[in-house]
Amino acid sequence: MSILKTYTPTVTVAENKQIFAKTAALLLWEQLEEMHNPLMVLPTGNTPGDMYRYLVTHHGKRKEIWERVRFLALDEYIGLPANDRRLFQNWLARDLLDPVGIPVRRRIVFNSMADAPGEEAAAMENWIKDNGPIDIAVLGLGVNGHIAFNEPGSNFDSVTRVIALSPETRQSNAAYWGGLDKVPERAYTLGLRTLSNAKQIILLVNGAHKAEILNKVLCGPITPDIPASFLRTVANVTVLADREAAKDLL
Ligand code: PGA
Repeated sequence: MSILKTYTPTVTVAENKQIFAKTAALLLWEQLEEMHNPLMVLPTGNTPGDMYRYLVTHHGKRKEIWERVRFLALDEYIGLPANDRRLFQNWLARDLLDPVGIPVRRRIVFNSMADAPGEEAAAMENWIKDNGPIDIAVLGLGVNGHIAFNEPGSNFDSVTRVIALSPETRQSNAAYWGGLDKVPERAYTLGLRTLSNAKQIILLVNGAHKAEILNKVLCGPITPDIPASFLRTVANVTVLADREAAKDLL
């Protein structure tokens, strides 16, 4: 493991996929163990899969810790029924929330089928104001620089809202669902300002296909065109990258 202190935020570089997953899992686990009613935000995607497997295998039996965690959705597709496998809340339930036993009543998620999605998003923002702050937000990085579904062009003062997914994002998500036509066109996302109020943020970045965007996030202009660049203006952010994603930084 090496730590690159020349960047803000500091970047921790893991040698390989296994160390990346284990380090990510431990960064999260050590926080959860310390807290009594943590509000936790987690990403879907390829990036965190091995981290979830590690947590289930090594810490899944610590029910007394998981039972006091509150899970808060980071983003979600709009217009899918509650039992649809594509819903991020169901994906995370399969990969982590069910295996470790986070109670369903402690999962705060979007209603994908809400009649008025704009109102649903506003209600989520209000819930966070009343019950937050977010204690720990683990985030992935899109190849277009998005975090959650804050697509390029998202303002740094954006709040939880409905967003039209960009063609790149729909294309990269199509791989999970067997075709572009199966990817919804709209989604909910926590906003950048909403996320910036988290007490701690861990940005996970792995794979050679993320090297170029990670370089831009850390070294390019801080701009809504690269939404993740706003993390350079936020305190308490840790970037964990694998060697492939960090290859242009070394
Ligand atoms: P990935 O997605 O983990 O599948 O690369 C990250 C993202 O788009 O946020």
